[in-house]
Amino acid sequence: MTSPTGCPVSRDAAAFDPFGASYQLDPAEALRWSREQEPVFFSPKLGYWVVSRYDEVKAVFRDNLTFSPAIALEKLTPAPPEAVKILESYGFAMRRTMVNEDEPDHMERRRLLMDAFLPENLEKHEAWVRELVRSYMDHFIDKGRADLVEEMFREIPMTVALRFLGVPSEDAKELRKFSVAHTLNTWGRPSPEQQLKIAEDVGQFWQTAQAILDRMRDEPTGEGWMYDSIRMHHQHPDVVPESYLRSMMMAILVAAHETTAFATTNAFRILLSNRASWNDICENPTLIPSAIEECLRAAGSVVAWRRIATEDADVGGVSIPKGGKLLLVQASANRDPRHFENPDEFDIYRHNSAEHFTFGYGAHQCMGKNIARMEMRIILDEFVRRLPHIHLVEDQAFEYLPNTSFRGPTSLWVEWDPEQNPERRNR
Ligand code: HEM
Repeated sequence: MTSPTGCPVSRDAAAFDPFGASYQLDPAEALRWSREQEPVFFSPKLGYWVVSRYDEVKAVFRDNLTFSPAIALEKLTPAPPEAVKILESYGFAMRRTMVNEDEPDHMERRRLLMDAFLPENLEKHEAWVRELVRSYMDHFIDKGRADLVEEMFREIPMTVALRFLGVPSEDAKELRKFSVAHTLNTWGRPSPEQQLKIAEDVGQFWQTAQAILDRMRDEPTGEGWMYDSIRMHHQHPDVVPESYLRSMMMAILVAAHETTAFATTNAFRILLSNRASWNDICENPTLIPSAIEECLRAAGSVVAWRRIATEDADVGGVSIPKGGKLLLVQASANRDPRHFENPDEFDIYRHNSAEHFTFGYGAHQCMGKNIARMEMRIILDEFVRRLPHIHLVEDQAFEYLPNTSFRGPTSLWVEWDPEQNPERRNR
């Protein structure tokens, strides 16, 4: 078997399957062989060049002209004609948004729309995010047992995103269901029957997002990032066109919701599995920000991202032909011993954890990274104060949505003795 450049494909490369059990279980572990022996290889099962080491992943992220993000949201499993018809019946017209846009359009738009994401402009959201987190905890704090995904992690990022965007929250439940469909639609390998169901959900998601946007356009003084974008559309219609607004309304919810919900779930799982680290942050909550970076490094929620070569190129000494598609496996780069000492160890005192690629890197690096960090910080801060004695329910099975890129268990059960809640003891 040979790659598109005519080079022989190794046995491990031929066997690599991102929908197989080992990658789904632990993508970094599934690519250990590649980090050690063949850091850039062609995967015939996927039709992509897979990149697994830190320096190579960084080099590709850094050069967004040679390695375009245009395919970042392309469907990995093409839709059958029936699914395309369903989408058409909903008027689905998703265009490129920020994340898959080429230069110079991308940077011009990113600059215009960046302000609300800056840390100094996020501070004003902290108090209500904390209030939100506390109110969710109040529902289960006396129960002694909870699935944290169901009770709060799935809902809070969507509620925060909607408020940040300025979208009324009554539509949250509907929109959440749709964004799961979008993940499977984009990065999954749905069966032909699933494709039809997903097309229905994505079509409805599109229409709901459009209806919300149309309502928002009638309120020119509204507060939130979507309102800012609408105003920018009026001032600079060439840089922020109508089609962009429509597509962004849907894309930003996906970008903000599952990424953060999964990252929070992964962080709790890994911290509670490393009790000494959990105890350390309970004793000293100022360690939380660096602990979060280590969680994002060791158990990130976006484990692989995509680029396409715009010309013949070289990655780590391997020739990639023009049009070659690349799967950059951040989860693997985050465990590269050439960059992170003892990468398999979970160490909240690690000096360079924040150099992980979970938020991508370079011109397209995640715009919402500080929103995600803020949410995770506040959630952890409330837990270490109000429920420091929680522990994972033993022998629970963790399930993952089968896809290449978004990773987090669909439930996370924890237990505790409510009699030991600090708030009761201090009463
Ligand atoms: C882009 C991850 C949360 C908005 C990205 C990219 C990744 C990513 C990998 C692509 C980066 C690249 O191509 O180099 C994550 C993770 C999150 C998270 C792991 C949570 C832990 C959020 C949130 C928002 C957001 C909360 C918004 C409220 C965006 C936007 C882009 C983006 C707008 C496109 C930036 C551009 O192309 O210039 N994110 N994200 N993300 N993310 Fe996030």
